[in-house]
Amino acid sequence: MSENALPLRKVHHVELWVGNAKQAEYYYRKAYGFSRVAYAGPETGVRDRASYVLQQNKIRLVLTSDLTGEGPIAEHVKLHGDGVKDVAFEVSDADLCHKLATERGAENVADPSTLSDGNGKVRHASIATYGETIHSFLDNSDYDGPFLPGFRKENVQGTPTGLLIVDHIVGNQGENQMEVWAEFYSKVFGFTRFLSFDDKDISTEFTSLRSVVMAAPNNVIKMPINEPAPGKKKSQIQEYIESYRSAGVQHLAMLTTDIIKTIRQLRDSGVKFLEVPDTYYEALPDRVGEIDEDMNVLRELKILVDRDDKGYLLQIFTQPVQDRPTLFFEIIQRKGSDSFGKGNFQALFESIERAQEERGNL
Ligand code: FE2
Repeated sequence: MSENALPLRKVHHVELWVGNAKQAEYYYRKAYGFSRVAYAGPETGVRDRASYVLQQNKIRLVLTSDLTGEGPIAEHVKLHGDGVKDVAFEVSDADLCHKLATERGAENVADPSTLSDGNGKVRHASIATYGETIHSFLDNSDYDGPFLPGFRKENVQGTPTGLLIVDHIVGNQGENQMEVWAEFYSKVFGFTRFLSFDDKDISTEFTSLRSVVMAAPNNVIKMPINEPAPGKKKSQIQEYIESYRSAGVQHLAMLTTDIIKTIRQLRDSGVKFLEVPDTYYEALPDRVGEIDEDMNVLRELKILVDRDDKGYLLQIFTQPVQDRPTLFFEIIQRKGSDSFGKGNFQALFESIERAQEERGNL
């Protein structure tokens, strides 16, 4: 345990600022199987926004829309489209996290304050990270409500799809910004370099990226940072940056312990995933060796496999979840492996490039 590390416990929630939270809530509930557990908006005395809280096991997504046509949410959606605004951490001491982070150079977004309602109180503070993304610090040890103070309890059940916990959250940076932000997570948060790979690891004939995985000392929070690398054509990271109009969260990976069951359910409910060439599955047995799963089923569902020295992992990537080619999701199952599927980037990249080409962005 690094003594520099901020006392983060885990990801408390991820908040997306979207154009139409009411409809987005329906999509994530119906397609991904989240349940709506809390709400805040005009009916609860909030005048400028509506926020829907979705939960599945330990994953909480908050979908927030502006109601006024002006102010930070409206401006954010106008510039970026739908996207992740806040990766909020549950912490043991929000004041200390905020104090240390700002002393170490993070930009203040919200000074520490106490939020309270009949269910207790929560200490809250926020700092800025890449792009217009923020990190909130929440100490909810004195709170017993459905989400946070001000939210009313809701109970609209989704059909769970086996999504358990946020495995990692990836940020896309502009050119030559990866080291800057890796250093930010190292200096401000006390994260360590868990893994890194460069454009020799992840590239196709045309485009490539560099990536470094920053991890909290207890490894419960992992935040890979990507940047585009030069190629003959435009990197998918560059396409993201141009579409989102800044750095931001590229994807959120959610863990399952039965990816075949999860992906069958998600496909049945209409979630669209990246295509994978059949040649990928022809090469798979030689690349990963013995695995527990039926290769034919993996091929049918387009699930990817990668192996490292500790074991293997299964993963799959959704298509972007809004019209701009920005945020998407990853579903991942780990069987010993604690890496991120580096060997799949080649297959993934080739697949993404086909989609990029169809959009005329390659
Ligand atoms: Fe990932």
